[in-house]
Amino acid sequence: MSVQRRYAKFLGLAAVGALSIGLAACSSGGGGEGSSGDGDLITVGFVAVGPEGAWREANETNIQDTFTKDAGFDLKYAPATNLDQKSQIDAFTSFVDEGVDVILLSATEASGWEDSLERAQEAEIPVILLDRGIEPDDDSLYVTRIAPDNVEVAAAVGAWAVEQFPDGGNYITLEGPAGVGVVNERNEGWDSAVDGSKLVEVAAQTANWSAEEGKSVTETLLKANNNNVQLIFAQNDEMGLGAAQAVEEAGLTPGVDVKIATIDGTKSAMEALADGKLSFVHEYNPLFGETALEVVEKTLDGESVDSYIIVPSEAFDSPEAAQAVLADRKY
Ligand code: AHR
Repeated sequence: MSVQRRYAKFLGLAAVGALSIGLAACSSGGGGEGSSGDGDLITVGFVAVGPEGAWREANETNIQDTFTKDAGFDLKYAPATNLDQKSQIDAFTSFVDEGVDVILLSATEASGWEDSLERAQEAEIPVILLDRGIEPDDDSLYVTRIAPDNVEVAAAVGAWAVEQFPDGGNYITLEGPAGVGVVNERNEGWDSAVDGSKLVEVAAQTANWSAEEGKSVTETLLKANNNNVQLIFAQNDEMGLGAAQAVEEAGLTPGVDVKIATIDGTKSAMEALADGKLSFVHEYNPLFGETALEVVEKTLDGESVDSYIIVPSEAFDSPEAAQAVLADRKY
């Protein structure tokens, strides 16, 4: 049975209870099982973000290293042009017109995807969201979203912060770009944990996932608050590492005068945690290529999967915790 006919059968299936699947721990990808059974490769259109930072590089490399021809896939990688959503929509449309078997989407913007997703649905091409969600979140328009749980991850950072500052303190939030779904989810999770505590947000500003902007924004906000800041919540590692530089250049000691917490868990952040420059790093595990491959195979075989597949991610709260894993880290 061709890939398309199998998936059409799946579309015709009555809604069934979600079937959770194992996560990244499963064995290596398809071993040629990915092919459509008659030897043809499964074509995968990957509408990707492209160059954005260490996390993105780890994630997109992992996807490309997983969906190989040896595993039975023809992965067509389409990174955005300068993070521009229109270039992603154009690539998405080309994949639909080309009739790929499945589309993987990591959206640069949360909104604006309805028309594209409806076109894919009309063409009976399943869409799997990687990392980034869409808003409004209409899960009838995609098969599943595979990502760590941003709300839970950020809530864990917030819970650590509340525990660190029982008598309160002033904090700055360095956000990712406006309009990106994970930014809203991280704000939601953080707020759920710190609301009602004695922590006071003195400023929140985007630094666009960038170390350079993280440094310049933090410099400005420290000056504006006469250095009376005890905590910085950076929504990704790069912005937190930039903030640490600004803290030092302001004559303050990261980890002592100002604690900095970040999300991602990339190697440079784990090294900074080991050195005491960062105080808390929550992983946002990017290595879910094997899970994505399993989801693609199940979907094309007409099986149902959960509408949101959460990738496990760990928290690291001390130099010792970072040192214990640094040697073996894969990203
Ligand atoms: O969507 C995930 C976020 O995008 C990561 O936390 C950040 O580093 C990346 O740019």
